[in-house]
Amino acid sequence: MENNFKENGLVSMILIIDFGSQLTQLIARRLREVGIYSEIMPFAADCKKYLAKKPRGIILSGGPNSVTQINTPRAPDEIWNGTPILGICYGQQTLCKQLGGRIETGIKREFGRARLDVLEECSLFQNLPKETDFDVWMSHGDHVSELPKGFSVVARSAGAPFAAIADNMRRYYGVQFHPEVVQTTGGTQILKNFAQLICNCKNDWSMTEYKSHAIQAIKKQVGKTGVVICGLSGGVDSSVTAILLHQAIGERLICVFVDHGLLRKGEAEEVVELFTNYYNIQLIHKDASKLFLSKLRGVSDPEQKRKIIGASFIEVFDEEAQKIAGAEFLAQGTLYPDVIESVSLSGGDNVTIKSHHNVGGLPKFMKLKLIEPLRMLFKDEVRKLGKELGIPEILVGRHPFPGPGLAIRILGNVSSNKLKILRDADSIYLDEIRKAGLYDQIWQAFAVLLPIRTVGVKGDARSYEYVCGLRAVMSTDGMTAAIFPFTSEFLAHVSTRIVNEVSGINRVVYDYTSKPPATIEWE
Ligand code: XMP
Repeated sequence: MENNFKENGLVSMILIIDFGSQLTQLIARRLREVGIYSEIMPFAADCKKYLAKKPRGIILSGGPNSVTQINTPRAPDEIWNGTPILGICYGQQTLCKQLGGRIETGIKREFGRARLDVLEECSLFQNLPKETDFDVWMSHGDHVSELPKGFSVVARSAGAPFAAIADNMRRYYGVQFHPEVVQTTGGTQILKNFAQLICNCKNDWSMTEYKSHAIQAIKKQVGKTGVVICGLSGGVDSSVTAILLHQAIGERLICVFVDHGLLRKGEAEEVVELFTNYYNIQLIHKDASKLFLSKLRGVSDPEQKRKIIGASFIEVFDEEAQKIAGAEFLAQGTLYPDVIESVSLSGGDNVTIKSHHNVGGLPKFMKLKLIEPLRMLFKDEVRKLGKELGIPEILVGRHPFPGPGLAIRILGNVSSNKLKILRDADSIYLDEIRKAGLYDQIWQAFAVLLPIRTVGVKGDARSYEYVCGLRAVMSTDGMTAAIFPFTSEFLAHVSTRIVNEVSGINRVVYDYTSKPPATIEWE
């Protein structure tokens, strides 16, 4: 379902042109957090398609290249049409270069916090704390050395004499620092100022309105008689998709829950209870745990496990879907980060770290028409939409859980015995986190079962049992993550409970590694 919410003039939009910065998605999220709809376009994409959506302003993102090199990305020519433009870091440099200024490579890079000295009144810096000087986050090697005609310097830092520049007549602006990161004081306010004061955007992007729009759009797409299949995983995205659809088309929605037997303790039962008894949604619960376990038997390689689970899932789902007479549509909980085309600067394929398996990732051969009501939303927006739909907090606030489930948290071979051990340990860990009131401060917390056994003493007897690893991280998007700093008392308490209550574990360790260099999951 292509979202035409903004094309109908219902919301004002900022277009972000991506030059390959890791931070581009953050720009979009910051704007959306303050109620301003924004979309990301790769710099080499067909610009006309995006300009047809009539953005009120354009932001040029940062990027890893140097504009001093030939054949590095430039902003498309069509954007210089009177629409206000803000260039950030690389975006500022290419803006200057393309408008006749000069860029130089500095002797050393400026990286980290810098003090910004605001020299001139500028709409970008309105409504900020009273102090004229504040901290900004810099990360650049090149800098502007000569401004294009019409521009003046509005702020500088020790390492960047052109830290912020403006051409108020043409409404073109540039900042050398990154307003999208939390380290920049008032960074969100600067982006909001650009959108509202300079581009005249209203803060009209809200999940309340999105919900009614999405329901109308689903009704229109499905028509009066269409039947929709939706794959449920028990996670936030597929649940919100299903409930949104249910509100739109009622009993013409049929959910298929392929239970691979790799969910956490009590989770499969919760899914069935919630969707059948609470929501009264038609649900096919296919218990395929035996099939998955048999296919995984003897397999210890993480990638192979992921592939087996992905393929088996499709096989079972397809089999169940075939049985539903007259189904024409398939609903998926695809999110915006999966839709945004990534900018390829090398032209080569990115290195695959892990092959992700999602309930949403179903093959094209299914010949069903796709409905993806969340495809323009970030995860935090999906949670807000879930709340709008009245979905219980326990579900919408749930930590992300990977498609391959506990199979990638049991390192090496998977067996039913190991699944039971891990489920019990994980449930104690999460129970203690909830009791301590820490659940919502953590992006993801879970236990893993190591494939090694160690010697211990339990009740005067020698034990030879598995090691359990505990992981808890803070993150905003799962791309990077910091370790959650539990107190040692908390960890000791959880460890004691696990070792005492879970037969099969006699040692507990806490994972003290951030991402990067580690990933969040262990496999
Ligand atoms: P990593 O381990 O790559 O994980 O740091 C980043 C985020 O992605 C989740 N994850 C998955 N989610 N299918 C999913 O739906 C998968 O195959 C998968 N593998 C990892 C992980 O839990 C974390 O939130």
